[in-house]
Amino acid sequence: MKAHTIPDGSQVYWDGLHYDADNNSMPADLPFYLAEAKKAGGPVLEAACGTGRLTIPLAGAGIDITGLDISAPMLRAARKKAGKKGLKIRFIRADARKFSLNGKFRLIFIPFNSMQHLHDRVSLESFFSRVKKHLAPGGRFILDVFNPDPRYLVRDNKELVPIGYYQDPYSGGEVLVNEQYSYDRAAQVSRIAWHYKLGKKRLGVKRLNMRCFYPQELDALLHYNGFTSLRKYGGFRREPFSPDSPKQIVICRKTFR
Ligand SMILES: C[S@@+](CC[C@H](N)C(=O)[O-])C[C@H]1O[C@@H](n2cnc3c(N)ncnc32)[C@H](O)[C@@H]1O
Repeated sequence: MKAHTIPDGSQVYWDGLHYDADNNSMPADLPFYLAEAKKAGGPVLEAACGTGRLTIPLAGAGIDITGLDISAPMLRAARKKAGKKGLKIRFIRADARKFSLNGKFRLIFIPFNSMQHLHDRVSLESFFSRVKKHLAPGGRFILDVFNPDPRYLVRDNKELVPIGYYQDPYSGGEVLVNEQYSYDRAAQVSRIAWHYKLGKKRLGVKRLNMRCFYPQELDALLHYNGFTSLRKYGGFRREPFSPDSPKQIVICRKTFR
């Protein structure tokens, strides 16, 4: 397994084909983001676009979309898939905390828990300031992250739990992923290790670090960084956010000053 590490120490984005094979049955986030992108009525930016899992179908539906990500292997897969479909999409390799692009966007979104790769206050402030700088007047900013569930956070950190199978994109064999989970209560970061096996063969171990955002904390972070929350959903079918919601999906705009 090749090595590739992003700034928060996560290593699971080392190969776009593996990522797509492992994430081909995602929840209903595509219809949600497509509806929001249509509503925006202008250029859209996806921060942390990865392999273009959402970017490419949105572009295929006629949305003027730019994708930005820090992982070269993920972007390589995105460009290849877009090329095969004859779609001209601007994919940019950049850090979501530091990017500077020409033009403004009617919608900027960071989907699929990607903001959980920004762990500290300075990283979040930098990202939020980039978003505000690139939002067109009246534009929307949307993020989705998990709603932390204490039942998962207390797992035994030595236990290996099978979390899924997928088809190896190269050999066609079956890849099993076992998860080892340790929660850092000071940093509020889930430090996860994914152990990959192809048949009986151990392929390697990759780290995945995910910062938890507690609901009140997330609302406060957005508020104190100059965003007004317009809607908060608990699922992609626009279920109202509640204590049992698996997700926090927030639609905001820049606060008027
Ligand atoms: C869970 S994947 C989501 C990919 C894609 N949006 C999707 O929905 O399938 C998280 C992505 O965040 C990207 N990422 C993490 N930290 C980043 C940063 N500081 N700047 C830009 N991209 C980052 C990773 O490279 C990875 O592609």
